[in-house]
Amino acid sequence: MEKLQVKDKTFAVSIPEAELQKEVRRVAAEINRDYAGQEPLFLPVLNGAFMFAADLLREITVPCEVSFIKLASYQGTQTTGTIREVIGLAKDITNRPVIIVEDIIDSGLTMAHMIETLQAHNPASIAVCSCLVKPAALKVHVPIDYRCLDIPNDFIIGYGLDYDGFARNTRDIYTLV
Ligand code: IMP
Ligand code: MG
Repeated sequence: MEKLQVKDKTFAVSIPEAELQKEVRRVAAEINRDYAGQEPLFLPVLNGAFMFAADLLREITVPCEVSFIKLASYQGTQTTGTIREVIGLAKDITNRPVIIVEDIIDSGLTMAHMIETLQAHNPASIAVCSCLVKPAALKVHVPIDYRCLDIPNDFIIGYGLDYDGFARNTRDIYTLV
């Protein structure tokens, strides 16, 4: 199995490119079917979803728009603690069907917050499309409409996912060994 050394850690390929791409095409076909006659706005979440979004969007055949968003965390007032805000929402999402595109859903907390925040902008609908899901790690209920693969509760990198900022640029996905 092909190994990858990133800083102090060693990883091995766990999902090869071909297996992943097959699932990306399947998910795209599901979206094309479900959104026929609609014009969805895809909202990929930076940084992790950039590579999945690029592959997914190239398989989308319904008319669509894309706007990358990011969840920014910062310390608020003493009373409110950490505030997380969706930034980069360049398009008005009011009355539009939106599809959030994520790299991975782990505890689900990020996605739950994202959904709640976007809901306040009154989109016509919100769907969640995540490349990967760790079902055993979910801490909150998140409606996941589209997913490529469920994976075990292990730390992974590649295909957009990083270890300390590195290894986002690989075609395969690697698991910590
Ligand atoms: P959650 O809020 O716990 O669902 O985590 C979501 C974010 O944590 C993802 O969007 C990733 O950026 C990051 N993350 C979760 N699991 C992994 C992993 O195995 N490798 C790298 N990043 C991860
Ligand atoms: Mg992410």
